[in-house]
Amino acid sequence: MIHNNISVLDNGHLAFADADVVELAKKYGTPLYLIDENKIRENCRKYKSTVEKYFGSESLPLYASKALCYKDIYRIINSEGLGIDVVSGGELYTALSVGFPAEKVYFHGNNKTEFEITYALDNNIGCFVVDNFDELYFLNDEAAKRGVVQNILLRLSPGIDPHTHRAVVTGNVDSKFGLPIETGQAFEFVSAALNCKNINLEGIHCHIGSQIFDKYPFTDAAKNMLDFALLVKNELGYSFKKINLGGGIGVRYVESDSKSDIDEIMCEIKNELDELVSERGLDKPIFLFEMGRYIAANAGMTLYTVGSVKEIKGYKKYVCIDGGMCDNPRFALYQSKYTFYNASNANSEPEELGTIAGRCCESGDVLSDEIKLQNFSRGDILAVAVTGAYNYAMSSNYNRVPKPAMVSISNGNERLVVKRQTYEDIIANEI
Ligand SMILES: Cc1ncc(COP(=O)(O)O)c(C=O)c1O
Repeated sequence: MIHNNISVLDNGHLAFADADVVELAKKYGTPLYLIDENKIRENCRKYKSTVEKYFGSESLPLYASKALCYKDIYRIINSEGLGIDVVSGGELYTALSVGFPAEKVYFHGNNKTEFEITYALDNNIGCFVVDNFDELYFLNDEAAKRGVVQNILLRLSPGIDPHTHRAVVTGNVDSKFGLPIETGQAFEFVSAALNCKNINLEGIHCHIGSQIFDKYPFTDAAKNMLDFALLVKNELGYSFKKINLGGGIGVRYVESDSKSDIDEIMCEIKNELDELVSERGLDKPIFLFEMGRYIAANAGMTLYTVGSVKEIKGYKKYVCIDGGMCDNPRFALYQSKYTFYNASNANSEPEELGTIAGRCCESGDVLSDEIKLQNFSRGDILAVAVTGAYNYAMSSNYNRVPKPAMVSISNGNERLVVKRQTYEDIIANEI
């Protein structure tokens, strides 16, 4: 099995976090998101202890909550002692609604609205990751009106290509996020921030991309960030206290993906950083990270009911399910690979090529295209593994399909953490 929280029971049903998923599908209906709470906690602990081991206890590991955002996950993340990054007022509101400490929030976004900026300021969030000059000046003015000095990091693009899918690359020179080092704009950005009276520039941030399995993209980015820190120190006499290297550690979706080892990657990043910091004669900054997928992905599974199995003679076999791009748009967006199981008959061998077709009126609404699958028939439960990150978070009501419920499993106990949307919910805001 692709991860150790998936197994097969004696009755041939698939188990997730030791729960019979066919029984869960019967009880809660499908599509259904499952969350393995113990796995989230295990991932948090591993991440936190690894960051502390290599970067010291002053380095606050952050959870990039865009990966999976609902009220209960902020409770879990808080109880595990992590900070968070949010990218919208909506994520911030959700976190604050369950008492997440505002001082441990980093606020991202390339075009935060004026409402979002003032909302975050009024709630005393710890740090803004400022994307551009317009945001910087607006934030400074609003902080002045409130008589506060706001901590910020500046979002920079270090000009690194992490060799991942182009839709999830973010640190290239022409990225829409932040300002590039290469063009000199990052330097002007720092000078401007240092001249803002109601801004406390704590440091700089970059996030180069997602689903990265080796250390080089991180260490190459860190090298460019440290070269930049040296330039700023020499030219402006200013030393950054914090350098945030973002998230992006890859996770295993299919057998052919590597098993990423966070300890190995962090250890290598630390060794390289120590050398770079001492070579440049820099004061050692606090290094921050913000992993999303690493925390949530393998803690999730999605269940569907197969409605029909249709063969287009001489061409393709479709296994049609009661969800699709509205609960998981990642294949449509990035051709993301997944591992699929017939949860009702989990011991059967993959036999034939098949395509998993979603229920939306889009030919592109598929979750896989012509991969070897177990046999399916109407009524079988199809389970998709490793759907904890960027699935519920990216779900939509396209075709007016209600969003699925989410059930969290912990130590053998299951509980509903997100109710299934109703048709009434869908029209609730319409007049
Ligand atoms: C700024 C920033 N930080 C962190 C992340 C988390 O990335 P991942 O989920 O790959 O760890 C993202 C993802 O898009 C991001 O844009």
